[in-house]
Formats: sequence, structure tokens, C-alpha cells
Amino acid sequence: MELISPAVIIILGCVALLLFLQRKNLRGPPCIRGWLPWIGAGFEFGKAPLEFIEKARIKYGPVFTVFVMGTRMTFVTEEEGINVFLKSKEINFELAVQKPIYRTASIPKNTFLTLHEKLYIMMKGKIGTFNLYQLTGQLTEELHEQLENLGTHGTMELNNLVRHLLYPVTMNILFKKGLFPTDERKIREFYQHFQAYDEGFEYGCQMPECLLRNWSKSKKWLLALFEKTIPDMKTYRSAKDNSMTLIQAMLDIVETERKEEMSPNYGLLLLWASLSNAVPVAFWTLGFVLSHPTVHETILEGISSVFGTAGRDKMEVSEDDLKKLPLIKWCILEAIRLRAPGIITRKVMKPVKILNYTIPSGDLLMLSPFWLHRNPEYFPEPELFKPERWKKANLEKHAFLDWFMAFGSGKYQCPGRWFALLQIQICIILILYKYDCSLLDPLPKQADRRDCKCSVP
Ligand code: HEM
Repeated sequence: MELISPAVIIILGCVALLLFLQRKNLRGPPCIRGWLPWIGAGFEFGKAPLEFIEKARIKYGPVFTVFVMGTRMTFVTEEEGINVFLKSKEINFELAVQKPIYRTASIPKNTFLTLHEKLYIMMKGKIGTFNLYQLTGQLTEELHEQLENLGTHGTMELNNLVRHLLYPVTMNILFKKGLFPTDERKIREFYQHFQAYDEGFEYGCQMPECLLRNWSKSKKWLLALFEKTIPDMKTYRSAKDNSMTLIQAMLDIVETERKEEMSPNYGLLLLWASLSNAVPVAFWTLGFVLSHPTVHETILEGISSVFGTAGRDKMEVSEDDLKKLPLIKWCILEAIRLRAPGIITRKVMKPVKILNYTIPSGDLLMLSPFWLHRNPEYFPEPELFKPERWKKANLEKHAFLDWFMAFGSGKYQCPGRWFALLQIQICIILILYKYDCSLLDPLPKQADRRDCKCSVP
């Protein structure tokens, strides 16, 4: 029998050690795979995503991977991982959202990647802080108009109230005056399809459309609505100042790049982005204010000190008036903090290290603003509605509180955030000025599915 020479043993030993070290170095985070091939943990995750994330964090630690519908999603929940999410050059926004955008708005990858940056820059300018206050007068006027339709008194579901106001106001301003239907039957039809599209949006991001029949019907209905109205939107000019609406500026870019066949699809995407978060935020802000008597009273005192005794006047609201009422903005931001998007996402382009783990390229990196906002280290007494915590934020300089991430972060933060804040501020001022409001039922508990969605999960 031939003996293996000591040199061979040493070489083999070295190779084994090297492989071991390399493996250790490339060790991925704990992975929750579920039982079913491809679907993975899809059912458990889909049923109650927020609860799922928190339970997984407690069981597996601050970084863990969940395998869902053929995709590896790696969650980061603490500082080191969050910093990678926010700052690493190997992490990409566009490639993370491209597929959900294809599934929900049928915009192909190449079109999306060609147009995204240009559209984003345009939106950032047009509804960013520099130009935004030009819309104050228009927003106030539109809101007055919608409030007049409500009459002087009565009871109404809070959710219906904010929808009744913000759907037409948003569509008439960002798209075209008169886009929102006025006929009762058509309004109901619009609500039904938009609600179905919105509620199924997250499933729509992850599953082929053929598996979601009703959702797909509503998506097609909305696309057809845009198909029909886009020619009018293009030629529309505001009677007041002849300025372009946001959708017109978008369509200009889409056409310049010779992608006009995609115009209805971009219309649908903007419609969803502009309504799906702002409406629940207005609901929760009013709900929180009305269920906190001291806050409610202080706000009413502020409103009457700026606009005079409450009444039915069609008063105007200026940028200066808004500055005198900071508590309203704090309440909106506090409601957004508490009802923040469940998840925002990026794609890992090259392996990144977080703690002792290596996250492989191709993974989706996931961050939950909802849970981040409940970390007592960042937000003391996180479950409480405490608008005064926003006193510390430098809102004059357009900065939020550290660790507040409801609008995402980095290069592609939500471009509609200032518009949303302005619109909800004016909406709340006008409702509380015109009506003596109180809640008839206690506020609902937060549902596990996010009240506030992120634009492109
Ligand atoms: C309170 C209301 C809103 C919240 C909480 C919100 C939140 C978000 C979040 C989390 C993102 C993803 C950012 C990221 O991943 O870093 C986003 C993107 C976006 N939001 Fe908003 N949003 C709101 C209102 C609006 C409004 C009113 C508009 C339009 C007027 C809008 C337009 C968009 C668009 C177009 C994107 C995609 C940006 C891109 O493709 O780069 N959002 N939003």
C-alpha cells in the first residue's frame, strides 16, 4: 500500500482551509425558504407581511433572507445594513423596481430604463420645493369646490371624505381640469376600479397578471381611460397661467423619446403614485388629530388666529399662512411616521458585506420604514402619536427627522413628497375651518397590510 506523502496532506489541508475560509466569508444570512418550490414562504409572507418581518427579525437577527415567488429578499433592520442600503454603490433602485413596474403598468424594461432618470428630474423640479407654492392657490380653489359639494352638515365615513376631496383635486391639478368624472355612476365606476387596482397592487408586483383576473380587469379599465383622455390632456392649457400640468411635462418626455404608445401606462403609474399614499395619510392625520383633543383644540386656535373665526368663507391660503401653522405639518408627518410604507427595495449589483454575512448579487435588499419608525432608539415612545417630536426637524430647510424614511431615501426619494404635504395641509385646514368635526367611532387598528404603500415595492 502506498502512503500519501506529508506534502500532499499539507497541500490538501491548505486547500480545505482555504475553501472553509472562503465559504465562511461568503456565508449568506439565515434564509427562510418555506416548503413549496418557487413559491417559498410566499403564502405566510403575503398573508401578513409586517408581522412576518418582525417575527423573522426576532428569530433570525438583524439580517435575514426570505425566499418568495422565486426571489430572494434580504431584509436589513439595523444600522450597518441600513447604511449599506442607503450608501453602497453596489445597490440599485431602477433595477429593483423595473420588474414590478412592468407587471403593474406594462412598461417594458428598456423603455423604463431609458426614461426613468429624465422623468424623475422633471418631476423633482416641477413639484419640488422651488416651484410648488405656485400650486397653493389652485389647490385651495379646487378643495373649496369639492367641499361645496358636501353641503353644510352631515355624517360621512372619514375614508370617503378624504377620497371625495383628494381624488378630484389631485387629478384636476396634476392631470387636467375635468379629468375626474362628475357623473355619480362614473365616479362610482372609477372608485371601484382604482380601489381594486390599488388593493391588488402588491400582488400585481409579484405575480403574473393572468393569475389576478379582477385586478387585471381594473388595470385594463384604467389604461383604457388614459388611452381615451390623453389627446385631451396634451392640448389642455390652464385658463389662468397657461402652465403645463405634471402629466403634460411627462408626456412631452415620453414623446421626445418616441415612446408615445406608452403614454397611457405612464398616466396610470402617476395616478397610482399620486393617490395611493396621500389619501390614507390624510385619513390617518385627521383621525389622529380628532382623537387627540388637546392637539385638535390647538390646531383650531391656530386656524382661527390666521383666518378669523371659523365659518363658510372661501378664504385663501398663502405660503405665509401655512408657516404660521406648523402643528398641522407636524401632525401629518407624525401620521406618516406611524403609517409608513412597509417596504422599500433596491437590487444588489455586486456582493455586499453586512455584519458577517455576504449578500449575493441579484438579491433584493429590503428596508422597512414601518419598523424603522418603531425603533425606540430612533423614535422614543414610538407607538405614540406625538407631533411635537417634529419640532426638532429642520423643516424650513426641508429636512425631516433622522431615520424617517417614509419617502424612501437617496437619489430617488419620492418626488411627490412636498406636493403631498402641501395638499394634505390645505385639505385639513379647510375641513377644520369649515366644519365642526368629531369622530363617531374609535379609530380602526392598523391593518397588517400597509396603510401607506411605497410607490414601487
Ligand atoms: C404621503 C404620501 C406619499 C408617500 C408616503 C410616498 C412614498 C414614496 C416612496 C416610499 C417612494 C419610493 C422611494 C424609494 O424607494 O426611495 C416613492 C416614490 C415615488 N413617489 Fe411617492 N409618496 C407619497 C406621495 C406621492 C405623490 C403625491 C406623488 C405624485 C405627485 C408621488 C410620486 C412618486 C413617484 C413618481 C415615485 C417614483 C420615483 C422614481 O421612480 O424614482 N408620491 N413615494
